[in-house]
Amino acid sequence: MNEHHRSMTMSERADALEEEKMHEMERILTRSTFAYLTEGRREMDTSPPLLAKYPGRYFNMGADPRLPPMPDKPTLVDYFRHRFASTAHLLQSATHALKTGQPEKVVMACLVHDIAIVSFIRCDHGYWGAQMIEPYVDEEIAWAVKMHQALRFFPDESVGYSYPDLYKSLFGPDYRPEPYIVEEYQRARAHKWYMTSRLICMNDIYAFDPSAKVDLDDFVDIIGRNFKQPKEGLGFDNSPSAHMWRTILWPTRFL
Ligand SMILES: [Fe+2]
Ligand SMILES: [Fe+2]
Repeated sequence: MNEHHRSMTMSERADALEEEKMHEMERILTRSTFAYLTEGRREMDTSPPLLAKYPGRYFNMGADPRLPPMPDKPTLVDYFRHRFASTAHLLQSATHALKTGQPEKVVMACLVHDIAIVSFIRCDHGYWGAQMIEPYVDEEIAWAVKMHQALRFFPDESVGYSYPDLYKSLFGPDYRPEPYIVEEYQRARAHKWYMTSRLICMNDIYAFDPSAKVDLDDFVDIIGRNFKQPKEGLGFDNSPSAHMWRTILWPTRFL
């Protein structure tokens, strides 16, 4: 680290290091406005100053060379292996559902219930995740994934589900779900598929044995039966959520 770097704030230093790396890249990689927002910055990458900074270079309009390469026609399994930041929680939850003999629909729902968090976005992850999978799974699975977001916060004594202790340590003892979550919970509670979503919560345990062996290979057949993999590749099939998968595939594409 040089003198210049030492006098900078953490985020300035990160930017400077990134910029140094960028000079080695063939294409100019950009960040989406949302990436800045998540750092508490209201900023955006604009073309003229960046083009001036990297003369003779063009913006990246495809794959990000820093990320693992993906096949031309990616499958859900490819996203699990090369894009999702972590799969342990999903696999543990699905393994728990499998080992306790729950219906395959529930196992599949558990396997994908938090895919939005591991690939895309935290806030309202149930809704984003449900939209990502909706064109490819049974309607009930997508609904259950959407609603688990709200159900997680509400106990159901009849099935032995109580408010997660983890949430007390994560959000503080005084946290109360916002009104839109409360309303969603009430809608879910009255719905015919309520129990499917509740079962996601029942399997959504954070205190699994960390040494338990979980393996995506154990779920490839279940995915095959419950996820309609598009032959064009996930992201290129013109479905209502294809763009979401493409964005995860190419997160630094300029447009
Ligand atoms: Fe979740
Ligand atoms: Fe979860």
